[in-house]
Amino acid sequence: MVQEFDKVGVVGLGTMGAGIAEVFARAGFNVVGVEIDQAALDRGRGHVDKSLSRAVSKGKLTEEERSGIDARLTFSTSREDLADADFVVEAVPERMDIKRDVFGDLDRICAPGTILATNTSSLSVTEIAALTDRPEKVVGLHFFNPAPVMKLAEVITTVATSAETVDIVTEVAKRIGKTPITVGDRGGFVANALLVPYINDAVRLYERGIATREEIDESVKKAAGLPMGPLTLADLVGLDVCLAVMDVLWAEFHDPRYSASPLLRRMVAAGRLGRKTGQGFYGGKDEAPEPRRTGRFAEMVREEETLDLGEMLVAPQIDDAMRMIGDGYASARDVDTAMRFGCGYPKGPTELLEERGAESVITTLVAMSEYSLTTIAVPAPLLMDLLPDADEGASHGGGCACHG
Ligand SMILES: NC(=O)c1ccc[n+]([C@@H]2O[C@H](COP(=O)([O-])OP(=O)(O)OC[C@H]3O[C@@H](n4cnc5c(N)ncnc54)[C@H](O)[C@@H]3O)[C@@H](O)[C@H]2O)c1
Repeated sequence: MVQEFDKVGVVGLGTMGAGIAEVFARAGFNVVGVEIDQAALDRGRGHVDKSLSRAVSKGKLTEEERSGIDARLTFSTSREDLADADFVVEAVPERMDIKRDVFGDLDRICAPGTILATNTSSLSVTEIAALTDRPEKVVGLHFFNPAPVMKLAEVITTVATSAETVDIVTEVAKRIGKTPITVGDRGGFVANALLVPYINDAVRLYERGIATREEIDESVKKAAGLPMGPLTLADLVGLDVCLAVMDVLWAEFHDPRYSASPLLRRMVAAGRLGRKTGQGFYGGKDEAPEPRRTGRFAEMVREEETLDLGEMLVAPQIDDAMRMIGDGYASARDVDTAMRFGCGYPKGPTELLEERGAESVITTLVAMSEYSLTTIAVPAPLLMDLLPDADEGASHGGGCACHG
């Protein structure tokens, strides 16, 4: 099926679209990149050129391969040039009014058989699909930044997506060298729904004066072998992006777990968005001041033997993953793939769980709850079920098993 694919359209050549166009051209597809005007088109082409030149200078691409890729890439300011595209990926700004305009046009311009994909991170794919007369041929194809490097592609299906479309898009994702996971349309999908609440947890611990930013970052690097701590990552991703994901999760689930930390919200209000503004949790001389230590409370937390700083960040994320699996939204393989290939984790949540054992994770969660350091009052049922004495524990109520 995919072999018949020839022409792929990419609408919007910004941070993500330029990388997506490059990925398709590298995989042998003919790509038409479309932008809003000539200036934006030149910028988009510049992003692709720069990335390809870097690959050549690093020896990851030969001059000959590069020429082939260049020959497969064309650029246009007219969406009409997508009339004969077999597959189109949209990567315009994260605003429903802009997506509506683009999908309305694509539905009119492209042949009825053309599959339309959105790279949205947080908007409803179902709502986007419903803007067209071909909802069965609309999916989310969520890439991670930088698109040419990160291996994960989340294929997001809606209640209207046809099985054939899912098969084709999954195959396309593999053909462009990505590791796809296929899940339904739900706030945050898999990777962001697991990553961003964890970043939010780190901000909460920081704002409550439990530890310094460096202690927080170092603790998780050590506990989970992560290449980067959560506050450094927040600066990199953008605090505004983190806040937007938290708000999407909150709007979807209304679970206190997804309420954004007040400090995160205030940093965004103050324009401290992380690396892109030069100021975030870190940032030279204008670094955010450390929150005032809350004296005895921080001391009590530090003295509590069952509470290790790194584990206080790892355990809730494992719990979130176990809920996601328990809900039937994603499989164990999906959550591990998402965190490994989308977020650079050396081990996925279920592997981290296996390393620690359910009892240890539950002990951390229960102790955190006792100190009001998490809104997770009861560990995920699937996690409780993993306890060796789960049956006995259940007959005494969930809490007993945790301390057993
Ligand atoms: N930046 C990320 O890390 C990231 C990661 C995954 C997904 N996403 C999603 O990808 C999408 C794009 O994000 P981005 O960060 O690349 O944004 P961006 O602002 O860097 O790029 C958007 C591009 O779309 C162009 N554009 C605007 N209106 C257009 C139109 N009507 N037709 C054609 N082009 C138009 C802009 O000129 C710009 O170049 C969003 O939906 C975002 O949520 C972003």
